[in-house]
Amino acid sequence: MKFRTRQIHAGVVPDPTTGAILTPIHQSTTFVQDSVEDYMAKGYSYSRAGNPTVTAFEEKINDLEGGNGAAAYASGMAATVAVLMGFLNHGDHVVFSDVVYGGTHRFATKVMTRFGVESVFVDTSRPELVEKALRPHTKLLFTETPANPTLKLTDLRAMSDLAQAHGALHAVDNTFLTPYFQRPLELGADLVIHSTTKYLDGHNATLGGAVVAGTAEQAAQLKFMQKAAGSIMSPFVAWLTLQGTKTLAQRMEQQSANALEVAQFLAAHPRVSAVGYPGLESFSQYDLAKSQASGFGAMVWFEVEGGLEAGKDLMRAVKLWSLAENLGQVESLITHPVTMTHSDMTPAERAKAGITDGLVRLSVGLEDVFDLIEDLAAALDV
Ligand SMILES: Cc1ncc(COP(=O)(O)O)c(C=O)c1O
Repeated sequence: MKFRTRQIHAGVVPDPTTGAILTPIHQSTTFVQDSVEDYMAKGYSYSRAGNPTVTAFEEKINDLEGGNGAAAYASGMAATVAVLMGFLNHGDHVVFSDVVYGGTHRFATKVMTRFGVESVFVDTSRPELVEKALRPHTKLLFTETPANPTLKLTDLRAMSDLAQAHGALHAVDNTFLTPYFQRPLELGADLVIHSTTKYLDGHNATLGGAVVAGTAEQAAQLKFMQKAAGSIMSPFVAWLTLQGTKTLAQRMEQQSANALEVAQFLAAHPRVSAVGYPGLESFSQYDLAKSQASGFGAMVWFEVEGGLEAGKDLMRAVKLWSLAENLGQVESLITHPVTMTHSDMTPAERAKAGITDGLVRLSVGLEDVFDLIEDLAAALDV
């Protein structure tokens, strides 16, 4: 079946007792067992280890990514942590994309180090640098593409081949493009991470995460991490995310179309000194964007002439764009990564990753693009 059918029906069956078309919110901590001998006969014991509403969402995201099992978590960070803590041991080494979500960088540098896991941050858009960074004890290659916030792309097939040849796992944070536009498992990756908070929910209503595994053994380890760390997604969040995911394709199409128009407007504006959007032919990795994904996504960055101060003035002046941390929602959002999402990185780390002080990040929403552009145009004229 096609994606737009699966996004609605995968993982979901009408409730067998009532016929309710929506999976019920199984808001129950425990599940009564028939007998000690038949323990878990219905599949559930305690909601930290598994819950029927969460299972429905796990089956849906697993189907959309083409995996062999998935686990849903309380946030995107909990999903990332499940991968890092679930697949690494003391003494292991990890190669990360140099541009990753700030929270991923924070966990690697401020927490994993305390458990004896060493991380290096490498420009994964250049496979030769990754090859050089691999050590005998490198067990994981962790990429994010397009990366938050610079939108730098990583060639997923090249990274998967490198990881495989080295006997390491390749985990991909696919939050920005979602399985509608990009499916890393088809490009050889082992694990796909999502902040479901973003496009999968899409309505600014939840915090959640998921990891989809390439093998059943990896999926079992991910399920184990939910129970061991107590980081499973809540039933209500799973229910809301199930509903959000049903319109994923339509939102991704429209938001990306809006993003292209916004990026083109910015690229032509005399006060804008730089624009990044993988769907612009001027984007340095435009060919890679076209070859490994079926769409460009709805994230855009730009810099206003005059740098940081001019950027701040613009963020104050916009009316329709909300100044907020988050992305992938129906509402258009504007973010200043240096003071918001990536503030825990040192200035040197940010400079290395290309996150300049004046960089303004846009998450283009589902509003009429005419209004979005008109608002930006007015703010640029202030
Ligand atoms: C690419 C990416 N991965 C992971 C996360 C973390 O997700 P959450 O905020 O749901 O914990 C974010 C959050 O912004 C993100 O942008």
